[in-house]
Amino acid sequence: MTEVLDTPATTSPISTRKHGDVLIVLSNSPPVNALGHAVREGLVAAIEQAQGDDSVKAVVIACEGQTFFAGADVSEFGTPKAFAQPMLPQVVDIIENSTKPVVAAVHGTALGGGCEVALACHYRVAVPTAKFGTPEVKLGLLPGAGGTQRLPRVVGVKKALEMCATGNPIGAKAAFDCGLVDRLIEGDLIPHAVAYAEEVRDVTPLPKSSERQDRIADTDPGVFDAFRKDHGRKFRGFDAPEANIQAVKVATEKPYAEGVLDERKLFMELMSGTQAKAQQYFFFSERKAAKIDGLPDDTRPRSIQKVGVIGAGTMGGGISMNFLSAGIPVTIVEMAQDALDRGTGVMRKNYEATAAKGRMTADQVEQAMGLLTPKLELEALADCDLIIEAVYENMDVKKEIFGKLDTIAKPGAILASNTSYLNIDEIAASTSRPGDVVGMHFFSPANIMKLLEVVRGAKTAPDVLVTVMGLAKKIKKVAVVAGVCHGFIGNRMLMPRQVEATKLLLEGASPEQIDRVHVEFGMPMGPFQMADLAGVDIGWHRDPSRIENVRDALCAIDRWGQKKGAGFYDYDDKRRPSPSPKVQQIIEDFAAKEGVERREISDQEIIERTLYTMVNEGAKILEEGMAQRASDIDVVWVYGYGWPVYRGGPMFWADTEGLPKIVEGLKRQEQRMGSDFSFSQLLLDKAERGEKFTR
Ligand code: 3HC
Repeated sequence: MTEVLDTPATTSPISTRKHGDVLIVLSNSPPVNALGHAVREGLVAAIEQAQGDDSVKAVVIACEGQTFFAGADVSEFGTPKAFAQPMLPQVVDIIENSTKPVVAAVHGTALGGGCEVALACHYRVAVPTAKFGTPEVKLGLLPGAGGTQRLPRVVGVKKALEMCATGNPIGAKAAFDCGLVDRLIEGDLIPHAVAYAEEVRDVTPLPKSSERQDRIADTDPGVFDAFRKDHGRKFRGFDAPEANIQAVKVATEKPYAEGVLDERKLFMELMSGTQAKAQQYFFFSERKAAKIDGLPDDTRPRSIQKVGVIGAGTMGGGISMNFLSAGIPVTIVEMAQDALDRGTGVMRKNYEATAAKGRMTADQVEQAMGLLTPKLELEALADCDLIIEAVYENMDVKKEIFGKLDTIAKPGAILASNTSYLNIDEIAASTSRPGDVVGMHFFSPANIMKLLEVVRGAKTAPDVLVTVMGLAKKIKKVAVVAGVCHGFIGNRMLMPRQVEATKLLLEGASPEQIDRVHVEFGMPMGPFQMADLAGVDIGWHRDPSRIENVRDALCAIDRWGQKKGAGFYDYDDKRRPSPSPKVQQIIEDFAAKEGVERREISDQEIIERTLYTMVNEGAKILEEGMAQRASDIDVVWVYGYGWPVYRGGPMFWADTEGLPKIVEGLKRQEQRMGSDFSFSQLLLDKAERGEKFTR
C-alpha cells in the first residue's frame, strides 16, 4: 500500500549550498541521519534543484553530525511513513539518474540504506575512519533499495555476499581496495569532495552502479553453495541470510531492472515475518537497556582512569582484558605468584591467539599487556578508580575482601563484585561506603561475551550506575541493570530450566532428547551440553560417597564433562559427543531408587517445562522490579546465553506464542512440577487481560 503524506515537513533536514558550480547537499538529522521520510523528500528536492539549475555542474552529498546516513529509519517500519513517497528505492534511482555527477562524501558509517545511497552516487569518497555496511540482515531484512543488485556490481559477488549475508561492515581502506570507494580523503572531507566533484564534472557517460557488468560477468555459480556451506552453522535458523544470498544471486542472473523486483519481493516477505519483527525489536531493546529509569537528570559519571581486578583466574583475566583492550590500565591482584603468573600467561596467550587470527597486531598485543600491572597485595589497588572483585563464590570471602578494600580504596572509587548469585547489599554492608558498591556480573569467557549484568544494590549511588553503564559501552559490552535477587536476571531464569530438565531425565527423557529440543529451538546448545562444557563438577560438594542426584553420581565417577572426556555424554579425542549407555543406566538406577515412574516424554512437554518455566520466572523478575523492563530480560538471554535473536528473547517469544498458550501449557505441567513451581501473578494477569510483556 502506498500512502502520500499530506503534511510535508516544514523544516527539511536537508539543506543545500553552492560552492562554485558544485551543489553541496547536506543532511542534518541527528542522531544518525537515518533516511526517514523528511530526509528522503529533501534529497529528492536537492537533486531536482541541481537538475534545474544550469549553473550546477556536479553534486556532493554529505552529512553533518557523527555519521553519513546510517540506513533507513527503523522506527518508521510498520508505520505509514515507511511507505510515504518518495520511498528509498525511488530516491536512489533519482540520484543515479541525475545527469550531473553526484559524489557521496562519507564519514562515520554508511550503513544499509546509507550504503545504498552511496552506491547510487556516481562516485564515493571517504575519510579513512569511515565504514560501509549492509547490516539489514541483522534486522531480519536485506538491502531493499537496490543494494543487493548494485553492491555485487561494484565490489564483486564474493564481497557482496559476505557484506549482505553477515551484515558486518568494512573499513574505508577495504572499501577502497574492493572498488566501493573511489578516493580516500585525508583532511577535511567536504572541501576535498568538492574538489573531486570538480574533477569529474565533465565525465560522460556517468558511471552507474546498476549498469555495471564487469564485476558480475562469469560468476561461478558454485560460489553461492560454497558460501552457504562455510556459514551454515552461523546462519542456522535465520531466514534473512538465505534471502540475502538469493538476492545477490539474482544480480548475477537477471538484468538490474528485473533483479530489483526480485529484491523487493524478498524484502517484503522478510519484512512481514516474525523474525524481522523480533530482530528489529531487539535492536531497540539493546539500546533501551542502557537507559536507567528514575535517576536524577544531572547525574554525571565518575572518571575511570585505572581499574583494579582481584583474582587472576579465568574470570579475572577475561575481565581485565576488556579494559586493557580499551586502553585502560589494569592492576590485577592474586594471592600467590604462581597463580598470578598463570593468569597473566593465559591473558597473553589469548591475545596472541587473536593476533594469530589477524584480528590484532603484535604491537597491539604488547600495548595491551603493557597496560597490565600484576601484584600480590590488595594495597596495590589504592589508586584505582574502579575495583572489580572476581574471586570464587563465597560470601564470607567476599565480605572480607570488601572490608579490606574499604580501608585501601581511595575515596570515590567504585567497588564492584563479579558475583553471579550473591547478595550485593550484604557485600556492600561490609564496607562503610555502600553507595560505591555495585555488581558487575560478566559472563564467561568475559573477554568475549557481550553481556554485563549491572546489579543495583539498595544503596548504589546514581553516579556509580551511570559510570558503570558508560564504561560498559566503552569496553563494548551491552549492560543490563538487574536488582538484587539470587542469580539476578540470567542465572535466576536458568534455575527453573535446570531443575525441570534434571527431573525430566528421571521421568524418561534422555539428555540427547532435551538438548535436541533446545538446539532445534535455536539455542546454541542444550542444558546438558552446556553442563558438560562448563563442567559438571561446578558447585559439586567433592564427596564421592554422597550421591544425592544424577550430577553427584557423574562427578563421583569422574564424569566432569568435556575436560575429562566424559560427562552427560561420552567424548572422543576430538571432543565429539555421543550418547552414553553408562549415563543412561545411572539415570535409570536413580529413577528406580527415587521411585520415579519412567514414561515417554514429548518434545512439547520439554518446551513447556523448561522454556515456559523460564518465561514464568522472567515474569516474576519483572513483577518484583528486578528488571526494569521485559526487553532487558530478552537482552540478557540473547547476549548471555545465546537465545536465538530471531525469536527476540524469552519475553518477546512468549508474546508471539501468546500468553494464554503459555499459561495453558504451564497449567498442564503444574502437577508434575510440584512444589518447584509457582505461577507468576503478572503472567496470569497479562494472559487474562490479553496483554503482552513487550511492545
Ligand atoms: N533508524 C532509526 N534509529 C536509529 C537507527 C536507524 N537506522 N540507527 C540508530 N538509531 C538510533 C538508535 O536507536 C539510538 O537511539 P536512542 O538514542 O534513542 O537510543 C540512536 O540512533 C543512536 O544509536 P546508537 O546508540 O546505536 O549509536 P552508536 O553511535 O553506538 O551507533 C550506528 C551508531 C553504528 C549507526 C548504530 O546505531 C547502528 O548500527 N544503527 C543501525 C544501522 C542499520 O541497521 N541500518 C540499516 C537499517 S535498515 C535499512 O536501511 C533498509 C534499507 O535497505 C531499505
